[in-house]
Amino acid sequence: MEQTLILVKPDAFARGLTGEILSRFERKGLKITALKLIHTPRETAETHYAEHAERPFFGELVDFIVSGPLVALILEGQDAIKAARQLIGATNPLEAATGSIRGDFAIEIGTNMVHGSDSPESAAREIGVWFPEL
Ligand code: PPS
Repeated sequence: MEQTLILVKPDAFARGLTGEILSRFERKGLKITALKLIHTPRETAETHYAEHAERPFFGELVDFIVSGPLVALILEGQDAIKAARQLIGATNPLEAATGSIRGDFAIEIGTNMVHGSDSPESAAREIGVWFPEL
């Protein structure tokens, strides 16, 4: 069994799409093993996206993540990382397949609804960032 860290980002939460998104993960067969609603401290957002600190959009990305509440969760299941990213779709919503979360609900890359860990190493690190108590 594999774990992955998912963020239902502030845009998705504000639009009332949290239930729809969680339902898609559950229907795929992934299990929610931890979940919290959080008003993200800036430091947490900066730590989560630390590997992108030098990219031009970093400040904008952190501003967006702290702009409102989000839902952080851990999903568990076979190949959970790949399965979740398949459901989420390509980073740029205009390139994301119809039927994926981003393909169905988003247009702009800066507000692309959901984050999912991209590797087992990232998942372990990100779970530590968002769920240090576990
Ligand atoms: S990925 O999925 O890691 O390969 O994508 P990458 O292109 O490396 O992007 C890393 C995260 O930065 C977000 N991103 C952006 N935010 C704001 N503006 C622009 N232009 C932009 N480009 C990329 C992207 O959504 C990734 O965040 P997460 O939360 O992982 O989706």
